[in-house]
Amino acid sequence: MTRNLSKTHALFERAKQFMPYGVNSNFRYWGDEDTLLIARGEGAYIWDVDGNRYIDYRLAFGPIILGHAYPSVVERVTDAIRGGTLFAWTTPLEVQVAERVIRMTGVDKVRLTNTGTEATMHALRFARAYTGRERFIKFEGQYHGMHDYVLFSTASAVAGGMGSRRNPINMQVSSGIPEGLRHYVINLPFNDLERLEETVEARWHELAAVIVEPLLGNAAGIMPRPGWLEKIRKLCNRYGIVLIFDEVKTGFRIARGGAQEYFGVKADLVTYAKAMANGFPIAAIGGKQEVMMVIEPGRVAHGGTYTGNVVGTAAADATLEILETQPVIETIFQRGQQLVDGIHEILTRAGIPHVVTGLPSTFSFILGVEEEPTDFRAYLQGDAALYERLVMALIEQGVMPDCDGREPWFLCYSHSEQDIAETLTAFEDAVRTVKRET
Ligand SMILES: Cc1ncc(COP(=O)(O)O)c(C=O)c1O
Repeated sequence: MTRNLSKTHALFERAKQFMPYGVNSNFRYWGDEDTLLIARGEGAYIWDVDGNRYIDYRLAFGPIILGHAYPSVVERVTDAIRGGTLFAWTTPLEVQVAERVIRMTGVDKVRLTNTGTEATMHALRFARAYTGRERFIKFEGQYHGMHDYVLFSTASAVAGGMGSRRNPINMQVSSGIPEGLRHYVINLPFNDLERLEETVEARWHELAAVIVEPLLGNAAGIMPRPGWLEKIRKLCNRYGIVLIFDEVKTGFRIARGGAQEYFGVKADLVTYAKAMANGFPIAAIGGKQEVMMVIEPGRVAHGGTYTGNVVGTAAADATLEILETQPVIETIFQRGQQLVDGIHEILTRAGIPHVVTGLPSTFSFILGVEEEPTDFRAYLQGDAALYERLVMALIEQGVMPDCDGREPWFLCYSHSEQDIAETLTAFEDAVRTVKRET
């Protein structure tokens, strides 16, 4: 099958006339030939403007937990917005969503916001306000959004730029960030207990927070080693540092209560966004009472014109209700496991060395390596070019994960057993194509 992309290419040419590189987020630019424009989505499928259908495993980088245009979510939003969308006063929906988040995740208090970027930006401010300290630790390969403080050593960093493991360098991944900001960030390799302990013991008096993606959701879903999250928790307790779990990707996806529930470790602050509202824009910062209560009006800033808007809160209310009452997580784990097992079997049969990473609801695989990587540096030793060729062949067959293996595959409640079977048949074909070409 060779897709017809004539309308796509024509519309992309137009898009480029009006928007830099024809997109509204740099991650969506795949070059002039491969950047798609999507006309619509329904359930587990999306259609490009030429009418080609794809089984979607990008799922907008994770938010679509139920399926595209999920009817009960769409209805709840449609009904709610007939009564207006924004009032700069609290609505009953906001109260209900905050209550649901608390019930599902076990945080004491919640503030709503709009995007993951805003959530991590505010969480870091709350941590500074609470501790009176200014620096924070993050880990290499973690992405916490688009604000300046966190655009160092993310999954967009290159191996050489991060320096040695003994003495990591903050690698700035964008121009336009004030030089002084690198002073506030300390990047360490994920899962490196010794380096973490040494750094915290030497610098705890400067450290407001440790911010961690409990699994590396922007670097193939690399898992925490047993004891890693517990060790961070212990160090934060000992030295009065605020532990922030960035659960923008893991929240409401790897368990109803997210990574805190899955790994059994509680953070002081937690950021949520994506799966919270099945693709509608809303995010949350939750946390322990005493840390959250620093947001005293006039003293510590949190706000935003669109926070708690009716569109996002209605969608979150409907989505969280389904997550609470239906076997969504169980189903996507089961389907994800079938997919992972099938992929593993096909790659093994084809003699392609690989390791599968992450959890069944959000997984990836790394080609050309035999040992499971424990940090972003190890991920970079995989064969990313082969992964990309394989995925591009798969997309040609109508199956759509991201072409970059750092971005995991995502499952949703609408993926059926039939979709998984169809995906595995396409995967087998794609592997054959790639092998023929090499
Ligand atoms: C872990 C994590 N934190 C924060 C963000 C930023 O979220 P947003 O794109 O909604 O600003 C992302 C986005 O992918 C993310 O994966």
